Amino acid sequence: MCGIVGYIGSGECRDILMNGLKRLEYRGYDSAGIAMLGADRKLEIVRCQGKLMGLECKLDGHPMAGSVGIAHTRWATHGRPSEENAHPHRSGPFALVHNGIIENYAILKEELQAKGITFSSQTDTEVIVRLLDFERQRSKSYAEAVRNTIRQLKGSYAVVIVNEDEPDQLVAARKESPLILGLTDDSFLLASDVPAILPYTRKVVYLNDEEIVFLSRDGYRIESLQDGSERFPEPKIVDWNPVMAEKAGYKHFMLKEIYEQPRAVIDTFRSVVDLESKSIRFPELNLDAEALKKIRKVCLVACGTSYHAALVSKYMIEALCRVPVEVDLASEFRSRDPVLDESVLLVVISQSGETADTRAALKEGIDKGAQCRAIVNVVGSSIARLAAGVIYTHAGPEIGVASTKAFTTQLTALYLLALYWATEAGKLPADLAARYVQDLVELPGKMEKILADTEKVSLWARKYMHYKDFLYLARGPLYPIALEGALKLKEISYIHAEGYAAGEMKHGPIALIDEDMPVMVLLKHGPLYEKMISNIQEVKARDGQILALIEKNPDEIVGSAENQFVIPESSEWLSPVLFSVPLQLFAYHVAVLRGTDVDQPRNLAKSVTVE
Ligand code: AGP
Repeated sequence: MCGIVGYIGSGECRDILMNGLKRLEYRGYDSAGIAMLGADRKLEIVRCQGKLMGLECKLDGHPMAGSVGIAHTRWATHGRPSEENAHPHRSGPFALVHNGIIENYAILKEELQAKGITFSSQTDTEVIVRLLDFERQRSKSYAEAVRNTIRQLKGSYAVVIVNEDEPDQLVAARKESPLILGLTDDSFLLASDVPAILPYTRKVVYLNDEEIVFLSRDGYRIESLQDGSERFPEPKIVDWNPVMAEKAGYKHFMLKEIYEQPRAVIDTFRSVVDLESKSIRFPELNLDAEALKKIRKVCLVACGTSYHAALVSKYMIEALCRVPVEVDLASEFRSRDPVLDESVLLVVISQSGETADTRAALKEGIDKGAQCRAIVNVVGSSIARLAAGVIYTHAGPEIGVASTKAFTTQLTALYLLALYWATEAGKLPADLAARYVQDLVELPGKMEKILADTEKVSLWARKYMHYKDFLYLARGPLYPIALEGALKLKEISYIHAEGYAAGEMKHGPIALIDEDMPVMVLLKHGPLYEKMISNIQEVKARDGQILALIEKNPDEIVGSAENQFVIPESSEWLSPVLFSVPLQLFAYHVAVLRGTDVDQPRNLAKSVTVE
């Protein structure tokens, strides 16, 4: 939530800052702003309500130049989206951008107001810059003023500050909000996420919580806020390239990311599966057979789409590994005092690795002594660094707000975890394990097949784009895919959609069925097929319209062939991946036809880094 970019170096930085913002716009798009120290070493600030395009237009009529600057794209928390609430905020010689929430801002504001300081916005952020200006007047140095200011803040923050009186410096600090430092030969970049710096460098230093970094053109000093000690981290090389964060000819990032899924799934399993021996190795998971033996319960915790991935894998881990699995929304988990100890394996799942509730759930697990691991896409993210072991999903940068390839690669990673565990625990014979691995190897080809023939899904989108409500029904491991399909539709097309376990139909939702309620059903051959057919009959008997994703061939009982999309056959544990793809495409086409902003849907931001 909110994207931050900072630059100090020897070149002109306006385009670098704006390009960085473009690559972070998925984090928030209510307003944007930029502050630079010009050749006369005076601060210039330009801000604009609305998307980045507005700021770009404003900058066309307002040339800015300089080699030190900060920029911000906002997702509003305190104060509505407006120019006066847009960042950077200024007080005296300082301009500051912020991502996070300052929980004690009201108290700090009152104290400053009592001293005669006035405010021009409704944001919590303005409090930081006003406080800094106040502290500067009573501190021995700028550095001391920054430390004194940051130490008074409660909550989460990533801040970057420019100072007219110290024009060759940039200062940043973070706590529970992401901030990375990119290193080039002649400059330093600060950013909320890797895509912003990718065109310039892949050499990165990850800042820790409660650290301040003081940057000049020649170097930087990272120090702890707690005790002032200096840290000398080894820079890491990010293995993403700039092209991965481009649209590559697709109309939307979401569409590109849907089509990238076969490749992403291959990258996810290729990193851990030995295709010769069909064995799985998880070097970074840090969980061997001995450690697995001691696990009595698994807790899978995540938010949104990642939570749906967790729900799918409950079925599989319980079936193959025979350990009980609890699945929780991270926001609920952290607030219910869960029973955790060293016999519990807590696995948090997060694309961004920065989601505030998921991160807090992980911390809760660490504090209570659970075995804590993470499934994460972004290398070096907060969650990846906190967990005692990680499985990376190798989806590459996901820019579209609606999660697609992150989801299917999470399903892949969780599948691999269950296979690894069952094999290590001696619960899965080697030949069966090898067959499961082979199923996975065949999966990308089946995904390609679905992606090559999407005409029917586009037709459905045209036919059903004007409906106001949708119901998604499924059973077993496909039930969470119904939830995910409904989430995709509502978040990008703004159509109300609900996912339900089909067995729950008669306990309430059947009351909603009429000719205005299309029902998307997910049908897999196997023990639950007949029960799904009964649910379909119940819908049809009440004039409901059926759209079916069906394995193998259309089935006359379900309805006309036009209303059935055939999904390639697969094992019950991998079908959830295949069924996800047409649901993503259906939501995408409906949203495009309705003219919504597919990649940046209203009110949403990609990484929910505030609670
Ligand atoms: C879904 O399309 C959303 N992007 C959202 O539900 C997302 O999955 C959720 O915010 C969790 O994000 P994370 O995986 O980065 O933690």
